[in-house]
Amino acid sequence: MRIAVFDSKPYDEQALNDANAGHGHELAFFGDRLSRSTVPLAAGFDVVCPFVNDRVDACTIAQLAQFGVKLIALRCAGFNNVDLAAAREHGLRVVRVPAYSPEATAEHAFALLLTLVRKTHRAFNRVRDGNFSLDGLVGFNLHGKTFGVIGTGKIGQACIRIARGFGCRVLAYDLYPNPALASELGFEYASLDEIFPQADILSLHAPLMANTHHLVNATSIALMKRGVVLINTSRGGLVDSQALLDALKDGQIGGVGMDVYEHEEGVFFEDLSGEALMDDVLARLTTFPNVMITSHQGYLTAEALANIASTVLDNVAAFARGGELVNEVHGSA
Ligand code: NAI
Repeated sequence: MRIAVFDSKPYDEQALNDANAGHGHELAFFGDRLSRSTVPLAAGFDVVCPFVNDRVDACTIAQLAQFGVKLIALRCAGFNNVDLAAAREHGLRVVRVPAYSPEATAEHAFALLLTLVRKTHRAFNRVRDGNFSLDGLVGFNLHGKTFGVIGTGKIGQACIRIARGFGCRVLAYDLYPNPALASELGFEYASLDEIFPQADILSLHAPLMANTHHLVNATSIALMKRGVVLINTSRGGLVDSQALLDALKDGQIGGVGMDVYEHEEGVFFEDLSGEALMDDVLARLTTFPNVMITSHQGYLTAEALANIASTVLDNVAAFARGGELVNEVHGSA
């Protein structure tokens, strides 16, 4: 099939070309994100392959349908950026990559967490500058701390396994608790109201949906343990960034590791080093010594990229032969 890959970077191209050796699809790579203004690039293709920040809204979908595109083959797990109702209306099927390496993102959450609690980012800069002093670098042990997890899906579970390995007590919240999982992994389910005041660390792994938007806001932050370390590797929209900024200034939040940001579109994944950063909240967040920001790289391991590429192309192949679409997205985002 002819596949238009949007928001494509060199590492995507390599992984997709490698995986395509076993398929023989026709791949075209576009650096632009799919949106109303770039949708004409999709003319003549059977499939579009967007990523997390492509805006696949109703208008874009109507255009895709007019061009004869039949399948939206996301190369990510989240699908909050696709108007599923519009896709249904226009007869476009939507497939995703539900799991490519939950460990990749879970391990990144711990990379952020360990950096923050042991201040290795500051130590790295000091030593490079010939400063071998330890003043200001006192951290804290993860062992014995209460680790709060919101969302016990694939990534949440991988995080829980790691947290248990560190000797943390784990409290978790999910809309659909799984008691067998809790006893297998050694954690307890609790309500958000119970988790917020107890968690020393809070790690977000729920998808972005209407009922998780700004789950972390001024009200919920006020219920949290003072000095909590918040880790968000899920979706930026789960956190009200202005409330986060206020809580960091106030000390209510003691550290933030964020791999996602609610207004990351157009900023994350791009080299803006020669330009002024126009987002004042993000710019201010980068100035805190206890805030660690990465640019949505939780998934970015060689293993995950290879898994993503092969699942995307398997999804397209299943569609082409009229087979069952095991990774089809049916729900509403
Ligand atoms: P998953 O679908 O396996 O798990 C999500 C869990 O959240 C499910 O157990 C679900 O019941 C639960 N949930 C749904 N609504 C909830 C609510 N209102 N409150 C609490 N829990 C709720 O998804 P997975 O693979 O674990 O991914 C989690 C999120 O991580 C994705 O939605 C995606 O946004 C993000 N992600 C980020 C990556 C990165 O590079 N930073 C890479 C991959 C995913």
